[in-house]
Amino acid sequence: MAQIPTHELNDGHQIPAIGFGTYPMKGDDCVTAVKSALHAGYRLIDSAVNYGNELEVGQGIREFLEETGTPRSEVTVQTKLPGRHHDFDAAVNSIEVSFDKMQLETLDVVLIHWPNPITDKYRDAWKGLMEARDRDFVRTIGVSNFTEEHLQHVADDTGVVPAINQIELHPYFNQSAMRTFHAEMGIVTQSWSPLGKRQAPYDETAVKAAAEAHGVTPAQVILRWQVQLGNVPLPKSATPSRQVENLDVFGFELTGTELGAINALTQPDGRLFGGDPNTHEEM
Ligand SMILES: NC(=O)c1ccc[n+]([C@@H]2O[C@H](COP(=O)([O-])OP(=O)(O)OC[C@H]3O[C@@H](n4cnc5c(N)ncnc54)[C@H](OP(=O)(O)O)[C@@H]3O)[C@@H](O)[C@H]2O)c1
Repeated sequence: MAQIPTHELNDGHQIPAIGFGTYPMKGDDCVTAVKSALHAGYRLIDSAVNYGNELEVGQGIREFLEETGTPRSEVTVQTKLPGRHHDFDAAVNSIEVSFDKMQLETLDVVLIHWPNPITDKYRDAWKGLMEARDRDFVRTIGVSNFTEEHLQHVADDTGVVPAINQIELHPYFNQSAMRTFHAEMGIVTQSWSPLGKRQAPYDETAVKAAAEAHGVTPAQVILRWQVQLGNVPLPKSATPSRQVENLDVFGFELTGTELGAINALTQPDGRLFGGDPNTHEEM
């Protein structure tokens, strides 16, 4: 099994260069998918309070560790704080509940799921994440769906820059400006819906031509594009063969021309469902 490269986070910890998305899987299907993803070689598993699957993700990881003897430290689990828990105390309590549900000794990463700037409590929530880290419930803290302004606010308030910002990022919405800002701030970019979910651009010439040139699938081309941009993609698949396929993107390299052709697919309104973090709120 190929070794997955890692990124260094701004808190000194490492994170795998690709991870496994778990939404909307629940129940036994979720436990089975998490275990088969770990067997395939994934070492970063993404969950959230609002996915309603923290118990199952924790169970899948625990069973895998027990059955294989893999050290706990080799798997990174991350979950996300929901909007309804954005008060300071509510955030700390919420993370303690996630910690209890997953039963994994520690949570490796907790992200604020959405900034909800209309509700405007994300700055308190960030302080709650810092407190949970100080109390050792979580090792690394970050955010999701934050804009430059939201990132700047929490950094200015506390002097602590989020280690990660998980944002919508796929060929139709490549987030070039956010990636540049993250690089300047030392923030690792994670990509949600990294393939483009239902609108995956598998039939675009730029993707198909690269797939043919390298003898790989269109999905592998898109995930390789993500990796070469420096993003951490989190593809979800309930299908074991696709889980293996999606991880197998470290044995070929796209050319500059191929990367440019995929970058050219981006569209100003390329978001999948209009999830603009300035207006979209999730509780
Ligand atoms: N932070 C946020 O606000 C946020 C928002 C959305 C998502 N996320 C995270 O990001 C993860 C991934 O996003 P996503 O699930 O929306 O989109 P995605 O990973 O881009 O796409 C998932 C879809 O693609 C299919 N698929 C996977 N691999 C494939 C392959 N090799 N060939 C063809 N089809 C393939 C899957 O089908 P099968 O499962 O049937 O194989 C599934 O229908 C989520 O699971 C979640 O963890 C976070």
